[in-house]
Amino acid sequence: MGFIKNYNFLIRKLHSLTGLIPIGVFLLEHLITNSFALGGPEAYNQRVEAFQNIPFLVWIEIIFIAIPLAFHTILGLYYVYLAQNNVLQYKYYRNYMFYLQRVTAIVTFVYVAYHAYTARIGRAFAGIEISYEFMNNILSQPLFFIIYFIGLLAAVFHFSNGLYTFAISWGITIGPKAQKTMQTICTILFIILTAIGTAGLIGLAA
Ligand code: HEM
Repeated sequence: MGFIKNYNFLIRKLHSLTGLIPIGVFLLEHLITNSFALGGPEAYNQRVEAFQNIPFLVWIEIIFIAIPLAFHTILGLYYVYLAQNNVLQYKYYRNYMFYLQRVTAIVTFVYVAYHAYTARIGRAFAGIEISYEFMNNILSQPLFFIIYFIGLLAAVFHFSNGLYTFAISWGITIGPKAQKTMQTICTILFIILTAIGTAGLIGLAA
């Protein structure tokens, strides 16, 4: 019994950690890279090309992005299923955030599955290089711009609010004062990342 409990604890901690490293770090890098599109097609294509020349890129993507994301997502879907969404009975702020963390998990899951397939996996099999023109074809259509914007909001909320709960899970913010400060930091982070991500979308749609 003790073994199962310890094992459960370890898996929970690993789920929490993968949200920050490497998935969260990848999300930050991805949003910053895309914001280069504001500088025009050439600036964006140069930046993307530099990435595409990284040796063993596919293996890096599989080991540091695909596997941790699959682990976080499969376990995350199970945690969403387990959660008692008592948000309608207890109208506390943190209770709403707990609920939103799960809603954004589902929206991010649907969006990332669609986005990874159209912009990376399917494209790789078809032998098409990613470029400003490729993304511009998609994002210049208002419907797809809205879909991408909703995906961005969900992922950025999930990450920023996740950072707040991560700091509690890992014993970084213990008292109410530390948690309040962290709440402010995460809210500011949410605003900054939404701005960087939106800049990228606007740059790619123009
Ligand atoms: C952009 C991709 C994603 C990032 C950056 C990310 C990041 C994070 C972070 C930082 C946490 C906080 C960990 C903690 O509370 O200790 C978290 C929690 C969580 N994530 Fe994700 N996540 C992503 C995608 C997903 C997906 C696709 C799902 C499932 C459909 C998911 C489900 C969950 C759940 C259920 C929690 C709460 C776990 C708990 O409270 O114990 N996440 N995520």
